[in-house]
Order: sequence, then C-alpha cells, then structure tokens
Amino acid sequence: MIIALGSDHGGYNLKSEIVKHLESKGIKTLDFGTENATDSVDYPIYGKKVAEAVASGKVNYGIVCCGTGIGISLAANKIKGIRCAVVSDVFSAKMSKAHNNANMLSLGERVIGKGLALEIVDAWLATEFEGGRHERRVSMIED
Ligand code: RB5
Repeated sequence: MIIALGSDHGGYNLKSEIVKHLESKGIKTLDFGTENATDSVDYPIYGKKVAEAVASGKVNYGIVCCGTGIGISLAANKIKGIRCAVVSDVFSAKMSKAHNNANMLSLGERVIGKGLALEIVDAWLATEFEGGRHERRVSMIED
C-alpha cells in the first residue's frame, strides 16, 4: 500500500508525525510537501497534488493536514473521484470509510493532538467500505 501525504505549514508537524508512524508500520509513503512549518504556503497546492495522485491511482490513499484540516480538504474535494473527509474523532474516521468510502483523510494540526491523530489514521486504514446501499450513495456523489 502507498499513501500520499501533503500539508501546508500549519499541518507540517502533524504530517511529519504521520509519515513516521506509517513508515514504522511498513507502509510506503509519498510526501508531496510542504517542507517546513515556518514558510507560509498555500494549502490548495498540496491538497491538489495529493488528490491528483489518489485520483490517478498512483497511490492507494491520501492524507492531508493543515491548521484545521478544512481548507486542504476543500481543495482536495475539487478533484474528480476524491472523497476527502475532515475528521477529528475515531468514530467519524471509521464511518468515513465504512459508509462514504473516503479515499482521503484530512486532519487539523491545530484541532487535535498527535496521539488522537495517529489513532484516527489507524482506525481509518483498518476500516473497510461496507458497500451495499452505501455503494449507490457514493455513486450518486460521483455522478
Ligand atoms: C493557515 O494559516 C491556515 O489557514 C490553514 O492551515 C488551514 O487551517 C486552512 O483551512
């Protein structure tokens, strides 16, 4: 499995922790930047880069971070085929996969701490899409 990651400066530290966490579990990562927490950059650039990697099939999933997780998710969701969920709790993380088949996760570094963020990532990756009636609804989003 390959997971693409991206963030602006506001999400850089959390993104770095997630990269370390995934690599320690043997999951391959592809980091689309940004490169530090000090230079102010524009989150749509990084949301788009990760979303395009997911939509093209180059990677399996995408995880993006900004200060709130909101801006970068809005940018990612503009790319066709992307279902990027902003999540701040484990239950929503599981549901975003089980019911919505989210192929991207967005987290806010200024909203949740590292411990919860890593729990969310693990729960999201471990959850399968349930299909069935949810398949129809997800298809309606795509249409
Ligand atoms: C950057 O200051 C901040 O606006 C950004 O990280 C994010 O929170 C936007 O949604």
